[in-house]
Amino acid sequence: MGKRAIYPGSFDPITNGHLDIIDRSSKIFDEIIVGVLNNRQKNPLFSVDERVSMIKGLVGKYPNVSVDSFDGLLIDYAKEISASIIIRGLRAISDFEYELQIAQTNRVESGNLDTIFLTTSLNYSYLSSTIVKEFASYGADISKFVPPEVVPLIEQKYKKQ
Ligand code: PNS
Repeated sequence: MGKRAIYPGSFDPITNGHLDIIDRSSKIFDEIIVGVLNNRQKNPLFSVDERVSMIKGLVGKYPNVSVDSFDGLLIDYAKEISASIIIRGLRAISDFEYELQIAQTNRVESGNLDTIFLTTSLNYSYLSSTIVKEFASYGADISKFVPPEVVPLIEQKYKKQ
């Protein structure tokens, strides 16, 4: 069996930085499952179904990438889908401490799981879904941050509010 990896996240919304990680991971691992966290406490902009279908529309060109959602602990979901690797993107040193803490805890809880970090491409190192939403909420141009298909979906959300 090939190496199956999970790329988990909130993806609310997916950014060019996330897509860059998916693109590069698809060349490293045999199979990637993009796992969208169904986080009910966070009051997301997009429902989990909206996020899953948005990402599906963007990763169709990769035969080894699929998209799914999950509830609860990442380690439990990884076990359920027989993934042995967690992929995370590291933008800056500020991400490192938190990511290291999670990766180490996940590893203690589930010895068969390893987290592999990909450094985000420099041109996306500043990007975050939160900042994209903040800019979009003021009607700013977000076309450099998210794929063209996603721009109108975000704008639509803020028009309604
Ligand atoms: O895109 P994000 O919000 O940085 O992704 C965080 C994510 C989804 C990887 C993390 O919150 C997670 O794995 N949540 C599932 C619950 C869990 O396993 N918690 C323990 C580690 S924080």
